[in-house]
Amino acid sequence: MSKIVILTGAGISAESGLETFRAEDGLWAQHRVEDVATPEGFARDPALVVDFYNARRRQAAEATPNAAHKALAKLQQRYPGQVVIITQNVDDLHEQGGARDVIHMHGALNSAMCAACEHRWPAAMVMAPGDACPQCLAPAARPDIVWFGEMPYDIDAIFDHLAEAGIFAAIGTSGNVYPAAGFVAEARRNGAHTVELNLERSAVGGQFAEHRTGPATRVVSEWVDELLAKPEQPRGGFRSGDDH
Ligand code: APR
Repeated sequence: MSKIVILTGAGISAESGLETFRAEDGLWAQHRVEDVATPEGFARDPALVVDFYNARRRQAAEATPNAAHKALAKLQQRYPGQVVIITQNVDDLHEQGGARDVIHMHGALNSAMCAACEHRWPAAMVMAPGDACPQCLAPAARPDIVWFGEMPYDIDAIFDHLAEAGIFAAIGTSGNVYPAAGFVAEARRNGAHTVELNLERSAVGGQFAEHRTGPATRVVSEWVDELLAKPEQPRGGFRSGDDH
């Protein structure tokens, strides 16, 4: 059964008011990555890192899903089990917009993790350095975020989905960070039709067969409406050869 496999990045949440990373005034213009998004930074100054994610958790809690999040949920509802959403984002706007089984390959703001025993639990809105793990009681709680130099989550499952992709779409991601930026090449190798929906060409834009340029709330909604207007997909699922 071939699937629609969708990768999203910070750009899909931009119109919900959440900052992206590499915009001129983005998060990486305000903070040094090595200070707030690496294990070394956390070891050096845990309070700085915990406060960085407390601020982003609070902003994410105040944000609401936009038309792009909701359109992807509608597509999932139409084709249960055939539409896989993989996000690099750590907000839960996909879920708030109705999406299910979202793969958070870079972790999630609403999850905390124990650096000692790897137990995970729902994060408090405000975490503090040295919070105790509810499982092993070690003062080793940390944000459940995949930092630079750490292994993204669910990579094997992601590549299994890419092997079954009839369509691969990347939405709101600049294509700067691997392994996510390499998913389009993998999908093409597997014969998928590839489409990039973004404000501008990404760093891997040249690898996509199709581009839809504009704000996600417009281009994602239009793309989903076109897919939903097609006759029910054959049981075989989405084929790359179909005109998409
Ligand atoms: N609609 C569509 N695309 C948008 C919009 C919008 N309204 N606003 C911004 N974009 C696009 C930008 O043009 C850019 O290509 O979204 C992309 C955001 O790129 P980044 O800020 O680099 O974010 P992302 O690609 O998600 O970063 C990937 O890098 O720092 C790490 O872990 C972090 O998950 C993050 C990863």
